Amino acid sequence: MTRFFLVACCALFITSMTSSDAKAAYDVVAGKKVYETTCAACHKGGLLGAPKLGDKAAWAPRLTQGLDVLVSKSIKGFQGKTGTMPARGGDAKLTDAQVGNSVDYLIEQSK
Ligand code: HEC
Repeated sequence: MTRFFLVACCALFITSMTSSDAKAAYDVVAGKKVYETTCAACHKGGLLGAPKLGDKAAWAPRLTQGLDVLVSKSIKGFQGKTGTMPARGGDAKLTDAQVGNSVDYLIEQSK
């Protein structure tokens, strides 16, 4: 019985390892929630010069920087040509992973 349990655990572990490919580093489902509570304030309507969710033309030149750069800029905040993006969208309680998730969600909807 114990042995069966161990084998079952191992199988589960291996399955969970192999099903998460390297590309899916961020969780866009969790990111959507963060987007809606924090980022939508500016990124939904384009407040203060923020590029709008789904506005492909506004996002295209930004996307060329790559996801990692977009995430680190969103964590630190930055002053750009159209306005000021506050660090972590203004919510200091968000973790790096939560910010990453929401950036990934935002850009997935905008390309
Ligand atoms: C107070 C308004 C505001 C909030 C809230 C906000 N942003 Fe922004 N964001 C901006 C503005 C303004 C810009 C454009 C700055 C520029 O390029 O001049 C921007 C730009 C960005 C960019 C593009 C970066 C680039 O290099 O072009 C990303 C990605 C981004 N925001 C992610 C987020 C995420 C994720 C959240 C929520 C966690 C968030 N923002 C919340 C105002 C906001």
